[in-house]
Amino acid sequence: MASNRTFTMLKPDALAKGYIGEILNQITGSGFKIVAMKMTQMTENDAKTFYEVHKERPFYGELVDYMTSGPIVAAILEKENAVDDFRTLIGATNPEEAAEGTIRKKFATSISENAIHGSDSDENAKIEGNFHFSGREQF
Ligand code: RTP
Ligand code: MG
Repeated sequence: MASNRTFTMLKPDALAKGYIGEILNQITGSGFKIVAMKMTQMTENDAKTFYEVHKERPFYGELVDYMTSGPIVAAILEKENAVDDFRTLIGATNPEEAAEGTIRKKFATSISENAIHGSDSDENAKIEGNFHFSGREQF
């Protein structure tokens, strides 16, 4: 059975452009409940670890630089079928390919600076949520 939680980060470009409120409004308006949230900035080591699955990819260095370039908002979200429904809500990695009305279509800058992260599996949602939040920060 699919678990009911996913993990997200509002990425540095979204914060730099002042989109925190609008993006959170779209997330909660789509039926997701916020069960953990913080504003923080990833260190180089944090970003390298978080995105370790991509370490052989050509964009890895650029991704680490971008994700450490400014503050992010990290959150754990709860909803039935959370992982898949949230990936649908954020849209394709490349905002040019993202469906109308999705968060990336509305708020992303480019394929690299694409406004928001969403976990790609239940297993990764747990790992990523626990990376950013202690047990007593998860409600
Ligand atoms: P995310 O993990 O952030 O939710 O994004 P995603 O699943 O849609 O995409 P993924 O393949 O996991 O890539 C992670 C992040 O790396 C950056 N990226 N840049 N320049 C490029 O070709 C490229 N491809 C990916 C994006 O920030 C992407 O979200
Ligand atoms: Mg991904």
